[in-house]
Amino acid sequence: MSCPALPDGFDLTDPDLLHHRVPLPEFAALRQAEPVRWIPQAGNVAGFQDEGYWAVTRHADVKYVSTHPEIFSSYLNTAIIRFNEHMARDAIDAQRLILLNMDPPEHTRVRQIVQRVFTPRAIRALEDRLRERADAIARAARARAGSFDFVTEVACELPLQAIAELIGIPQADRTRIFEWSNRMIAYDDPEYAITEEVGAESATELIAYAMNMAADRKQCPAEDIVSTLVAAEDEGNLNSDEFGFFVLMLAVAGNETTRNAITHGMHAFLTHPEQWELFKRERPQTTAEEIVRWAAPVNAFQRTATQDTELGGKRIRKGDRVGIFYASANHDPEVFTDPDAFDITRDPNPHLGFGGGGPHFCLGKSLAVLEINLIFGAIAEAMPGLTLAGDPRRLRSAWINGVKELQVRAG
Ligand code: HEM
Repeated sequence: MSCPALPDGFDLTDPDLLHHRVPLPEFAALRQAEPVRWIPQAGNVAGFQDEGYWAVTRHADVKYVSTHPEIFSSYLNTAIIRFNEHMARDAIDAQRLILLNMDPPEHTRVRQIVQRVFTPRAIRALEDRLRERADAIARAARARAGSFDFVTEVACELPLQAIAELIGIPQADRTRIFEWSNRMIAYDDPEYAITEEVGAESATELIAYAMNMAADRKQCPAEDIVSTLVAAEDEGNLNSDEFGFFVLMLAVAGNETTRNAITHGMHAFLTHPEQWELFKRERPQTTAEEIVRWAAPVNAFQRTATQDTELGGKRIRKGDRVGIFYASANHDPEVFTDPDAFDITRDPNPHLGFGGGGPHFCLGKSLAVLEINLIFGAIAEAMPGLTLAGDPRRLRSAWINGVKELQVRAG
């Protein structure tokens, strides 16, 4: 059965689509009529024989693909589709040094090393400093007269500071890291006028910065996480290249995602005032998970089939690209009661906003949840009467469900 609701040429990876809205009606139509659907794309993507991809939209299928890396590889590129148009072949090869784009057993080895950064103890150790930062951010925003942009004044700062604290980036360098990571993501949005060269340069500069950091710590080890990761060059540690790409990934994976979760969360609260009242009154422990389900900051990732297989009744051929749409899975009525309601007491909440539970499941989840709890706690204290002062302006991207600007008033 094919999906009658979708016009010819409809493409879920068209950056213009997320520019305007999350395609929830189209996701619903696909889930119901054709949950694994081949979507042809016009023209080839540089360096690949790309003529289309399978759009996987049901919760169960997104989970299945995520938990079967031997059938659905990450190595051949996880970034959903148009990313590669902007990249030269050597940049694509370099991408494979990023954890997200590795397959077992290499992925298993590197993940075991970098997991040391994210132990519950390491995250707990950040809590007090991050709470102070969150409170300071909310107090500074409250002092703004008239309307202000929630993204730049509130949502941006904490995710950046959290990663910087985690890996020990000095205060003076933090703004640069932030700018590099922004430029790497925003190339699809003409408003930023960022060329592919600038995007690639930013990645190179950030990697060089991190590699320098690693070299420094090798010479003069300190009591910090970088020193533990790079201490000795052997199988149990990262070499300098690997460390460079690890920091690159953190800058993108940890910044853009959490910032957008916070912004979408604020927007959801302000358009569902009863939920904001509930949060201020009771601070349910379940809040952050619902915000991530609702926001789906990562719209989708991609895998590539390593063999002929079957999914949702469709024959997938070796080499086919498979797009897994977390934003759709998070609204699957087979799993969620009243899936389109924003309900911060939702429990259980087996959403896939942090991934489908496979080996690549978000390494920074507990840090992200901590940040979301801290910032909304701080906003509830400092600006309980916050109001919307405009519609969100969305990022043009096929991949990140982003908001560039959200005007609010402290109240
Ligand atoms: C992977 C979402 C915050 C670090 C992922 C994946 C998703 C995701 C969807 C891919 C999962 C998969 O393929 O199965 C999010 C969201 C966040 C968030 C929605 C915020 C609300 C963070 C933070 C960090 C982080 C704060 C670190 C500072 C990572 C890393 C990976 C990852 C390192 C790759 C793991 C691997 O390949 O083994 N994240 N993330 N994320 N995330 Fe997050």
